Amino acid sequence: MAVTDSRAYAEQLDADDRLAGLRLRFEIPDDGVVYLDGNSLGRLPAATPGRIDDVVRDEWGDRLIRSWSEGWMDRPFEVGDRLGASLLGAGPGQTVVCDNTTVNLFKVLSSAMDLRPGRGVVVAHRGEFPTDRYVAAEVARTRGGSVAWLGPLDPAAPWPTEPVTASDVAALLHDDVAVVLLSVVDYRSSALVDVASVTQAVHDAGALVAWDCSHAGGSVPLDLVGADADFAVGCSYKFINGGPGAPAWIWAHPRHHDAMTNPIPGWMGHADVFAMTGDYAAAEGIRRFMTGTPSAIALAAVDAGVALLEEAGMDAVRAKGMALTSYLVDLADEWLAPFGVEVASPRDAARRGAHVTLRHPDALALTQALTDRGVIPDFRHPDGVRIGLAPLTTRFTDVHDGARALQSLLAALA
Ligand SMILES: Cc1ncc(COP(=O)(O)O)c(C=O)c1O
Repeated sequence: MAVTDSRAYAEQLDADDRLAGLRLRFEIPDDGVVYLDGNSLGRLPAATPGRIDDVVRDEWGDRLIRSWSEGWMDRPFEVGDRLGASLLGAGPGQTVVCDNTTVNLFKVLSSAMDLRPGRGVVVAHRGEFPTDRYVAAEVARTRGGSVAWLGPLDPAAPWPTEPVTASDVAALLHDDVAVVLLSVVDYRSSALVDVASVTQAVHDAGALVAWDCSHAGGSVPLDLVGADADFAVGCSYKFINGGPGAPAWIWAHPRHHDAMTNPIPGWMGHADVFAMTGDYAAAEGIRRFMTGTPSAIALAAVDAGVALLEEAGMDAVRAKGMALTSYLVDLADEWLAPFGVEVASPRDAARRGAHVTLRHPDALALTQALTDRGVIPDFRHPDGVRIGLAPLTTRFTDVHDGARALQSLLAALA
């Protein structure tokens, strides 16, 4: 029996886990559920109900409208600064928490097109998350341009397992490309792109790059300034644990702050929010990416989630994410491959995020059967069981028990 075969081995890994204590800072019911979907909806931090209660009862209930000037107006930027410093390698004034990822993608892609007048092409990946593809196509269409698609032409081809490289992107670049949109961590394969080398290739062609960090924020340390990226967006309900529908974020490199534009020029992004007169005049800096009124309640939940990642430190989060995914890949090779399961994520931990997708023709039925047994992964069309291993809340014993449950379902099918 290989060492990974024993539950005692997983228990030892949990005992040695220096982030184990942070799991206790989440509300985790004692219901035996093995939660392997923290990359769709992260768990509830124990501090969040109290933080929300404070905003609702004290700031809203007692202070009423005064709370806007007593803190709410600054909160999208304060939470943004905290998120940017702990997760993105960003300096103050570069990140704002607002709207959702879809709206923020529209804003940054439109802005990038404005910053590259005369260029009409957006480069995006055919296998990209749907919202990204739709927004890329719409921004290109409304500006009389087009999308140049990366990735396999055949829609029935299995999705690529390995990350897009600088040379893949460079092959599509030319003088008419305004902006390249890519995910740092692919939502299906978990493939982790090298942000710095792709950014360099895009810049060499005179274009800009916008990164979707939805599956990277809170799972992989980012250094957007160091990589010289242009724009980035991401959600905060996955690894950031900000709660269902939590507001997303936008980061912009300071070199764009004076010239960047917002295609949704709302009053909260105005240079003088309460002037209420005249035409739209964009605020200085990252504030101009605000549209309308932010949710003070939702921002409190995002802040509580970011605080836990800040406390853990992203290097430790990354180290645990790699250990969890490597353990799962080992178990998949040993227990699941004999039943026709394939690892559809990069085999090198350094080239994947904190989830692993397993491919099997019965993936949908398996996902449903697992969920019925209290093991909760995610299904990804057409044949993927996606297993999210959120480092702050997933134990090695969860990986062990989830893989065992899948093995016994496969054995029953065989
Ligand atoms: C990579 C990626 N981009 C964008 C989105 C959509 O984000 P939102 O619903 O906040 O617009 C998701 C949602 O899961 C995603 O995984």
